Amino acid sequence: MAYRPAALMGLGSYLPPWVISNEDLAAELDTTDEWITTRTGIRARHRVSPGTSTGDLAVEAGHRALKSAGLDAEPGAVDAVVLATTTPDHPCPATAPDVAARLGLGPIGAYDISAVCSGFLYALATASAQITAGQAERILVIGAETYSTIINPADRTTSVIFGDGAGAVVLAAADDSGQPGVLLGVDLGSDGLHRDLISIPAGGSRQRSTPGEPDPDGRYFTMQGKKVFAAAVARMAESSTSVLDSIGWTTESVDHLVGHQANARILKALAKQLGIPEERAVVHLDRVGNTSAASIPLALAHAASQGTLTPGSRVLLTAFGGGLTWGSVALTWPDVTPA
Ligand code: COA
Repeated sequence: MAYRPAALMGLGSYLPPWVISNEDLAAELDTTDEWITTRTGIRARHRVSPGTSTGDLAVEAGHRALKSAGLDAEPGAVDAVVLATTTPDHPCPATAPDVAARLGLGPIGAYDISAVCSGFLYALATASAQITAGQAERILVIGAETYSTIINPADRTTSVIFGDGAGAVVLAAADDSGQPGVLLGVDLGSDGLHRDLISIPAGGSRQRSTPGEPDPDGRYFTMQGKKVFAAAVARMAESSTSVLDSIGWTTESVDHLVGHQANARILKALAKQLGIPEERAVVHLDRVGNTSAASIPLALAHAASQGTLTPGSRVLLTAFGGGLTWGSVALTWPDVTPA
């Protein structure tokens, strides 16, 4: 197989039906709808019921992305499944092989990507590289999360922010780089020196989870919000500029900024720093909160179904998350109907 670009050709999303409003949280925690709305822009988030896993959401979103791409879920539909998640079904094995099997996609390559809130863009970069290297024709790329399983329900600083959900795309080999949907530029970055800003301390080889540990709550997700806020704006702005420069697009020419949906104030500050009018920033977090690796494909599916993203428009994707990690991708929007 020869070198060729990779293009987005299918888009699907799935949100679990249980919706938690700010008022629901205020009834249980020392918080208010007013604080959550003004400090984050979030009004509601979805949560799985006990027993529903990240893999379950990934299967739903994956099925829809295949349908959107006009593909039946059967062997030969895609050559690989890449699943970005912070909340795999098990520490071992990866969740992607199970998702591929449950979708009936045959004995194809399937692997997880762990880059927290940047995970979907890391997965897109990896899948696109497999296609351009000639290792695959089509790849199902999924971002799926169940943060409700790792959040301390008593911690008001994190439990009001995160939500569960999944989004997926099909990437396929394209004839030429002028084809709409082609990933024109990709930028990835990381800074492990600041790994402690976002972490689940226990449960890995550094700090195993065993009963009777001095810090039994080390299994919960922790975040230093203020420092994360500042780093998110700075790194996403730098990465966005870098990817735009690499393909010769100016910031003024970007029609839609689809940033990681962490906080409306972060999106606003990012647009301002880039010099992109605020109204070009897609905002979906008001309905779903921060869904980490699922946030970009969920925002894309929402904006495309609302008619905001139109074929041929210039779209900039950018994300930031634990690791620290960040990344950006630029593409012209294809003629795709989300499922
Ligand atoms: N309800 C009411 N008060 C709350 C609260 C809540 N849910 N959460 C925190 N507070 C309080 C704090 O205790 C603090 O009180 P104090 O001044 O008496 O100490 C006050 O509100 C301000 O807290 P602070 O953390 O400084 O608020 P903030 O304006 O930085 O907003 C975040 C907090 C988490 C919303 C914000 O920092 C943020 O969005 N960070 C990025 C997080 C993110 O999305 N990361 C994901 C990976 S990119």
